[in-house]
Amino acid sequence: MFKLSTILILSFAFFGCSTKDLSESELRKAELIEGKVREQYEAYGKKYMIATQGGATTRAAKFALDKGGNIFDAATAASFAISVERPHSTGIGGGGFMLIHNNGKTEALDFREMAPRMANKNMFLENGKQVKERSLTGPLASGTPGLVAGVVEAHRSRGKLPLELVMQPAIELAEKGFKVYPALAKAIDTKKDKLCKFKASKEIFLKEDCKPLEAGDLLVQKDLANTLRLVAKKGRDGFYKGFVAKSIAKNQKELGGLITTKDLAGYKVKNRKPVVGTYKGHKVVSMPPPSSGGTHIIQILNILEGYDLKAMGAQSAKAVHLTSTAMQIAFADRAKYMGDSDFVTVPVEKLTSKKYAAGLRKLIDNNKAVESSKFPVPFHRVPEPDHTTHFTIMDGEGNIVSSTQTINGWFGSAVTVPGTGIVMNNEMDDFASHVGGVNLFGAVGGANNLVSPRKRPLSSMSPTIVFDKQDKPLMALGTPSGTRILTCVMQTTLNVLEHEMNLWDAVSATRYHHQWSPEEIRVGPPYLDPKVESELKAMGHKINHKSLGCKIQAIKVEKDGVLHGVSDPREEGMSYGI
Ligand code: GLY
Repeated sequence: MFKLSTILILSFAFFGCSTKDLSESELRKAELIEGKVREQYEAYGKKYMIATQGGATTRAAKFALDKGGNIFDAATAASFAISVERPHSTGIGGGGFMLIHNNGKTEALDFREMAPRMANKNMFLENGKQVKERSLTGPLASGTPGLVAGVVEAHRSRGKLPLELVMQPAIELAEKGFKVYPALAKAIDTKKDKLCKFKASKEIFLKEDCKPLEAGDLLVQKDLANTLRLVAKKGRDGFYKGFVAKSIAKNQKELGGLITTKDLAGYKVKNRKPVVGTYKGHKVVSMPPPSSGGTHIIQILNILEGYDLKAMGAQSAKAVHLTSTAMQIAFADRAKYMGDSDFVTVPVEKLTSKKYAAGLRKLIDNNKAVESSKFPVPFHRVPEPDHTTHFTIMDGEGNIVSSTQTINGWFGSAVTVPGTGIVMNNEMDDFASHVGGVNLFGAVGGANNLVSPRKRPLSSMSPTIVFDKQDKPLMALGTPSGTRILTCVMQTTLNVLEHEMNLWDAVSATRYHHQWSPEEIRVGPPYLDPKVESELKAMGHKINHKSLGCKIQAIKVEKDGVLHGVSDPREEGMSYGI
């Protein structure tokens, strides 16, 4: 592995360099990865680069590449391995998006969950009122999973190696098990009461008396290993037909859910046209509806293109004010316009146009938070967990896979289908239960995002690729964490393109988020300078210190074609390249 400098943080981590020798911003970075080794998160290579949220997942992708596979084999290996390694965040009971750049062409693969045929727009209401728990836990919370169909399709159309070979690391990981790591232990502990309600979930993730598995305990997923073997042997049919499909449908029926074998057999992967914009001469390509992510990343960048943010300073009060106000405006549009474009008209062209952004810019006062009356906020605070997962893989020829995958909230619906090890998603919560209803992440939903049979719920997942001024791939990235996905991807892009930060700094810098409702700037960690926060408050902003939960997985092409991988040091990610 070819590595460059890691001086500052390594010296802090290994040699106990005195914190008083570090500048304020260096100190914040050092604190961020205290006790961790930067080497795990950052790598350089020329042939390929992998950045994922788990060591076993990065090793699975490496395994496929070492066997002579291409990045699609690696992405397949990573997708199934991360399903095993992060069962609280993603899995074959969920769905996702994959942005692919191959031989100069960019495509967006959509394998988002679909509402069952029997779903209807009132299914999460009782007497006209939202019954929140129904879209979060239990059988009605799940859409028809799309992950296996999407990943197998990406592999079938572009992979080189047999599916059975690339799925080997995931199957072994599920069969032999691995030690529960702190983030997984935290998720199990948080969800233990819900997991305890469903026998198969209880048997896998809990101990006696519904006590949670703890960090260091072995998590074995034998049923999941068998399901993965079926997929490895039969491809898509191993999941959408036969034993697995029948088991899902049977379990749904027993628990009062709607997904049938017909829903499963009829699941469709969509190959969509990516959404495209530019920022100061760089092309930015991202995920179109049913993701809101790509459209609003481009909208926010378009608004910000009219300012000299670099001169203001990346973390100055003025830059944070303008950037978070642009986010606020975009989220008001999200609620108004966004939904599955197969069912409703989404004005993507208008939302991503420079002209529209210029009009929005006029709403922003350079020194004052937007008056609430301009964007009346309907409703607010809900619990907002970390969730979902992202990986990015690139080769030396500039081919890229950037994929975000999810079962939505931690452990999705909390239902594990008996005999299969499949944790079912709670993606139905990403629909609007009614106009103005909020999802798990506090995002407001409008009429375009109401439930309909076979419709896909609105997402924020934003696998993104940025091109240089010669139209060659410059950077690919993505992250988990609900509505914060799009603002974290946007900020990291801005940090590189506008603020000219190196990739490590761009990923580990303080991040903030405004989503219109609630009306506040959510920050950190690490936090902004207290003086900057005071200035923002004086402008009329509320500040909320609360983790954004984003875990950016980014790869950038540096000078001489060197691939630079950075996994967000905020969690257990790992970059590797040669
Ligand atoms: N489930 C979160 C998202 O798709 O944005």
